[in-house]
Amino acid sequence: MIRANDNYSKLKASYLFSDIAKRVNEYQAKNPDAHIIRLGIGDVTQALVPAVIKGFHQGVDEMAKDATFRGYGPEQGYLFLREKIAENDFHSRGADISPDEIFVSDGAKCDTGNFQELFATDIKVAIPDPVYPVYLDTNVMAGRTGGFEDNRYSGIVYMDCLKENHFLPKLPDEKVDLIYLCFPNNPTGSTATKEELKVWVDYAKENKALILFDAAYESYIRDEKLPKTIYEIEGAREVAVEFRSFSKTAGFTGTRCGFTVVPKDCMVYSSKGEKVSLHSMWNRRHTTKFNGVSYPVQKATEAVYSEEGKIEVKDQIAYYLNNADVICKTVESLGFDYVGGKNSPYIWVDGKGRDSWEFFDLLLTRASVVCTPGGGFGRCGKPYIRISAFNSLENVTLAMERVKEALK
Ligand code: MLT
Repeated sequence: MIRANDNYSKLKASYLFSDIAKRVNEYQAKNPDAHIIRLGIGDVTQALVPAVIKGFHQGVDEMAKDATFRGYGPEQGYLFLREKIAENDFHSRGADISPDEIFVSDGAKCDTGNFQELFATDIKVAIPDPVYPVYLDTNVMAGRTGGFEDNRYSGIVYMDCLKENHFLPKLPDEKVDLIYLCFPNNPTGSTATKEELKVWVDYAKENKALILFDAAYESYIRDEKLPKTIYEIEGAREVAVEFRSFSKTAGFTGTRCGFTVVPKDCMVYSSKGEKVSLHSMWNRRHTTKFNGVSYPVQKATEAVYSEEGKIEVKDQIAYYLNNADVICKTVESLGFDYVGGKNSPYIWVDGKGRDSWEFFDLLLTRASVVCTPGGGFGRCGKPYIRISAFNSLENVTLAMERVKEALK
């Protein structure tokens, strides 16, 4: 008899963004004339920048001739790309990361979801609340939790991120082995200083723990004092893995490219307490289960780091951050408390006592605007909604006018 992985039955029926898409589609079917503006899922709307398109075309043209055609590439990514990443994203910030510590992949969602399979099932996992659902759901699938009750899985150490603690997780009271952190944060848009991250690096070193640091939104950091990579923190090479994505940085949500940094200094421990190289483990996993990102996509990604590419991509981020400013000004004028939107494309809005799904329904039905209900990111998110800045300025402006009208 073919048996199912029973852990799947502990999961909520559908993934948050699939659930939202279903509700929005139902609303559209009932209201075919409604012009829905989507500020829900963080999906970019601007075209790939010209430098990236040029790189993409070059890659495709090379694939069209026998002399330059490429078959399987290195699973970890072509060196031409890994060198550019190491130089531009890490060396430029004083972070000592070498190209062979970078694993190019098809995005941060897959990597943040897959990475947990390198660890034993009985480790203690600390996860912020609210949180990007992938970290939690993949640990549920792997059997690291009990059942789901009162919006929480037993066995997980939840770190509440509330207004009172500026949406920054506090060190857990009990000893944990694996810690998920994300800055600039999805969903709250909050950021962490070097000093705040240092506390976590020190904790991980003292407790032989590991940090999985999701930096998918680092390119939205405008404040020069904020760290863009955890490797700006002394000691992080020994205890932290970092996930990056070109989705929000360069509009690659539909193109797919990201990478994970696994420093060679990172160690995990066998059941006998012996040190095991995490880099070797991830390399083994990656080469076994992944055959690399396509050559044209890696050429397109390389172009993100060209002189024109850097300027064009920066302009695109500034465009979305300007949208975020428009959203912040509107929610402020309506008297809502919020966080994010300054160094992040997400604005986390306190619904003044409304439940997040109720607020979501209100905005959908009265303004035809889609946001993300904070409750979908965890219990602590229930009083909030997340508004995303990914859309055209025109649509964001119109959406904000409608929201003002709907909440009058
Ligand atoms: C989000 O809206 O939280 C993200 O777009 C989801 C993702 O990046 O997978």
